[in-house]
Amino acid sequence: MRKWFVTGGAGFIGSNFILARRTEQSALIINLDKLTYAGNPANLESLHDDPDYTFVHGDICDRKLVRDNLNKYKPHALIHFAAETHVDRSIPEPETFIQTNVLGTFSLLEEVRHYWENLDDSGKDEFRFLHVSTDEVYGSLKPDDPPFSEHSPYRPNSPYSASKAAGDHLARAYYNTYGLPILITNCSNNYGHYQFPEKLIPLMILNALEGKTLPIYGDGKNIRDWLYVGDNNEALKLVVERGKVGETYNIGGCCEKTNIEVVMSICTILDQLCPDSPQIPHKSLITFVKDRPGHDRRYAVDISKIEKELGWRPKETFETGLKKTIQWYIDNPKWIESVITGAYRNWIEQNYEKR
Ligand code: NAD
Ligand code: TYD
Repeated sequence: MRKWFVTGGAGFIGSNFILARRTEQSALIINLDKLTYAGNPANLESLHDDPDYTFVHGDICDRKLVRDNLNKYKPHALIHFAAETHVDRSIPEPETFIQTNVLGTFSLLEEVRHYWENLDDSGKDEFRFLHVSTDEVYGSLKPDDPPFSEHSPYRPNSPYSASKAAGDHLARAYYNTYGLPILITNCSNNYGHYQFPEKLIPLMILNALEGKTLPIYGDGKNIRDWLYVGDNNEALKLVVERGKVGETYNIGGCCEKTNIEVVMSICTILDQLCPDSPQIPHKSLITFVKDRPGHDRRYAVDISKIEKELGWRPKETFETGLKKTIQWYIDNPKWIESVITGAYRNWIEQNYEKR
């Protein structure tokens, strides 16, 4: 069976990716994750007894650890999710973003390059490095601009997107300079279960359930292109397996919505799913607050390349995906409580620090 080395697999997209791969038993997984505030091992609890899943607690910046684990597990592919990901955190504290997203990506590329150079010819041919990135590297669109294509210029506006752009450039350079078999994906805003409740959709669901205000930045008319996490992960798998080495693939949900539309939809669904809630109508909790500095106005992604070359299109509609997501947050109060209180962090102590 294929052996895939995943970084950042205890986060939102990575844990959904690993669970899907293990359910279909398409790859044996090694997951290296630092378990920052965003990494939650509870997401992968169901794999506790799975002999084909291995968790390694560590930092992608720790070159010896990465080297030792590459040599130990000898993966056929590496899928690089690990990153600092929240734009709002990157504004007051950009340094960790540079550390992980730029220097961490560099360290990983260096170690993978040495690992790959020592493989035999067929191992070299087979190996893939998928660098998972974001549409935010392309900057902000005007209302009538066409969606971002793979040829759109890089114009990142936040420390987060600038750090991801730097990682993309390094990945591309490792293909062109060393021949390392790199693939890059730039996807739009994901949503779905296991997303840490600092991002728009889970934050609004949880605040609404608790009767807290729903803070919308600025005029609420900023647009994002919403992509269901399961669809993204199908695309990532296809890119690893069938993507053309050295290429970039944009992945989007074909689903542009203003933030106010998204929050209104959440409120309407909650009104239906929680008919006895004292918060009805949930939309009365909406509050407009001061805008985020450097707030990108619009993202939209042109998926024609991945559709034409790999036959991928998003399957989930926003209505069905959002409903499923909200229902999951309603049905998993324990997960929410552990995330909010930080109780899941005890897992790290219990499993590692005391060893
Ligand atoms: P997340 O914040 O939920 O998870 C990030 C994971 O990386 C966590 O498990 C964390 O512990 C781990 N991590 C952080 N620093 C690390 C380090 N130095 N070493 C090892 N592990 C480390 O992120 P996500 O939303 O799952 O995003 C995954 C990837 O997809 C990121 O590269 C992100 O830039 C990209 N992306 C995300 C979205 C989105 O909407 N969530 C959209 C586009 C692109
Ligand atoms: P976010 O989920 O942080 O993703 P990104 O900034 O990477 O696109 O935010 C999505 C949109 O929602 C973005 O335009 C900012 C806005 N937003 C709010 O209006 N209020 C909030 O509390 C948050 C977290 C985001």
